[in-house]
Amino acid sequence: MLHTTVTQLIGQTPLMSIDVPDRNATLVLKIEKNNPGGSMKDRMARSMVVAALQDGRLAPGGTIVESSSGNTGTGLALAALEFGLRFIAVVDHHAAPDKIRMMRALGAEIRYVEGDFREDEVAVVERQKLAAQLGAQLPGALFMNQSDNPANPEGYAGLVDELLGQLPNGINAFVGCVGTGGSMTGISQRLKRHNPAVRTIAVEPAGSIVFGKPGHPYYQSGTGTPAGDEVGKVLDYGCIDEGVQVTDTQAFETARYIARRRDCSSVVQRVALSTRRWSLSPLVS
Ligand SMILES: Cc1ncc(COP(=O)(O)O)c(C=O)c1O
Repeated sequence: MLHTTVTQLIGQTPLMSIDVPDRNATLVLKIEKNNPGGSMKDRMARSMVVAALQDGRLAPGGTIVESSSGNTGTGLALAALEFGLRFIAVVDHHAAPDKIRMMRALGAEIRYVEGDFREDEVAVVERQKLAAQLGAQLPGALFMNQSDNPANPEGYAGLVDELLGQLPNGINAFVGCVGTGGSMTGISQRLKRHNPAVRTIAVEPAGSIVFGKPGHPYYQSGTGTPAGDEVGKVLDYGCIDEGVQVTDTQAFETARYIARRRDCSSVVQRVALSTRRWSLSPLVS
């Protein structure tokens, strides 16, 4: 099939498996970085824009505004190009420079929130405030508000269809991270509708407040809810069986280890799937 727009390349991402023989389990990674904007957020970004155009909250030639750490922003920049919209991304000093460059290259306007923030402090509250303000003030503008936008979880319907097709032998458990909660909710609800026995495990950074633990600064970008911010209204706790936390060191070490590994079988010495708690416990040396 020949595609004619970049956004038609969203989805159909491959799977990579890691055997865990001593647990008689296989860990399967859905490689969402293969989406054209580099993350699963491409799916929900386009879904939010399509929904707003369909119900008239956004008119052709209008402006979309969103607070983003970079991934949603890149997805929205792609959707803005597809539909001929202006896009303003509201970011803070925490956003990765490569993501800012990518959004700019795709035509997004970047607005930094002002303030005297610590290096490890995520200024989500200020970002949300400025994005809401711009959305209300600029003519023809709409604040996408991903934390409160039902088209965010809806945007993952295609991912679940892909998973069910790619894993015909069934899925016992799903592990995902939680920021707004849109992906965890959209995926978990659908998986459970298909098979109520699927266990769902949501992962947040240590320092995030989604599951009631005390907040403190963390470096994992995009995921989690920092202290002072509100947990996303799109998050449905009812479809999540367990919440676990990972430290920055665990997250960064595990990502690098998996990216650099040459032999799948050696991973079992480093990544253990605990059957007792059904939590993914990266073992960091
Ligand atoms: C790559 C990536 N994964 C996961 C998340 C969190 O996903 P959600 O907002 O659906 O909870 C984000 C949030 O920005 C992200 O950028």
